[in-house]
Amino acid sequence: MDRIAITGGARLNGEIPIGGAKNSAIKLMAASLLTEEPVRLTNMPRLADTRLLGRLMQRLGTQIEERDGPDGQETTLHTPEVTSTIAPYDLVRQMRASFNVLGPLIARTGQAKVSLPGGCAIGARPVDLHLMALEALGARIDLHEGYVYAQAPRGLKGAEIEFPFSSVGATEHAMMAAVLAEGTTVLKRAAQEPELDDLAECLNAMGAKVHRDPAANLPTIVIEGVSKLSGVTHRVVPDRIEMGTYAVAAAMAGGEVKLTGGRPEHIRPLIEALEKAGVTVNELNDGMVVARNGARLQPVNIETDVYPAFATDLQAQFMALMTMADGDSVIKETVFENRFMHVAELRRFGADISVSGNEATVHGVPKLEGAPVMATDLRASVGLVIAALAAKGETIVDRVYHLDRGFERLEEKLSACGANVRRIKGDGPIED
Ligand code: EPZ
Repeated sequence: MDRIAITGGARLNGEIPIGGAKNSAIKLMAASLLTEEPVRLTNMPRLADTRLLGRLMQRLGTQIEERDGPDGQETTLHTPEVTSTIAPYDLVRQMRASFNVLGPLIARTGQAKVSLPGGCAIGARPVDLHLMALEALGARIDLHEGYVYAQAPRGLKGAEIEFPFSSVGATEHAMMAAVLAEGTTVLKRAAQEPELDDLAECLNAMGAKVHRDPAANLPTIVIEGVSKLSGVTHRVVPDRIEMGTYAVAAAMAGGEVKLTGGRPEHIRPLIEALEKAGVTVNELNDGMVVARNGARLQPVNIETDVYPAFATDLQAQFMALMTMADGDSVIKETVFENRFMHVAELRRFGADISVSGNEATVHGVPKLEGAPVMATDLRASVGLVIAALAAKGETIVDRVYHLDRGFERLEEKLSACGANVRRIKGDGPIED
């Protein structure tokens, strides 16, 4: 199992390219099942999660071709015919977002058998809202032996669906199913994350009719069903979480880093929090420059919530930053019930954090010390890398496969800016 070794203390200076968003790419891949024509996705990240979903989709009949094109890495997905409508447990278990093939499969073929994803490290993460939306669209859903059996032999029908709270996955799922339904679907209390707009843009370019209704009193998406979708070339939206993560890394290590290819408007609350902490952020047309020189960080309170509030996927990273602030900061997590797994690992660096319910109080300390630590989930593990960048001595992060799910060439990107980071392959020798 790979590990990452980091010797802290080096400032970061240089440029880091931001890739396409993982959480958009995997939904766009699933959406390609809706058409028999090729869907070409550019600015594609190459991650464990996209590979896993690709493997599942190949079993469903998708032909996948990856290459480097004029607009970066690209993947073409082509499903001339759906040859299987079964998503087995062994693949869904490894990546819960593969559950999202359920909607496109029913929309295209009228049936699907997809494993329930189960819980994960950050919370129970049920899929009741996904199933509620599909049922409202006319699918018959039965649960047996850990699988969802869905049927809509006469096709899906448009419906008005009001979610009890905002869910990214359920909104995306309902959207992907409704584009081929007969009639109009209205999704109320729909999620507003940029990855959803990216999916809507791609679907519209395929011939779908999806728009937000700005006049509605709840965040609302309207979908007028069409009978067929065509192929498309679509550029994946930049990864706001990757950009936010490197911004926090630069703030933690000090120095000046230019993040290119990202969209600062997608992480506004993080930028405001960094500025309050004493970090300089200059927004550019295609990215931003983050700089910190000398002065100790100021404590800043944050509260995660659905977009456009502070992203839960940046909470662990920001907590790592606050461990070295000059005072106490309060970090409240409102999206997932168990997203403080990194606290115990941050304490191993000497961080002083107390947790009460969904609130963590971080008592800033003047220095951290490197330690052996264990990654628990994707964003938690990159929080540990951030702490290690400023810690005295060496840190070894174990279970790096969590990081590989969502951060492409992390050690390469950080090393290029002067960080002392290297991957230790399996049990073998250290690779520099
Ligand atoms: C997406 O998860 C992202 N994953 C998550 O990123 C991200 O943290 C999350 O949105 C919030 O922004 C992908 O896009 C693949 P939700 P998702 O449905 O869609 C509850 C990462 O690290 N809920 O908005 O699963 C749920 O338990 C990952 O990249 C139900 O109760 O998030 C949670 O508490 C981690 N029933 C809340 O809603 C449902 O049917 C929000 O979840 C669905 C969700």
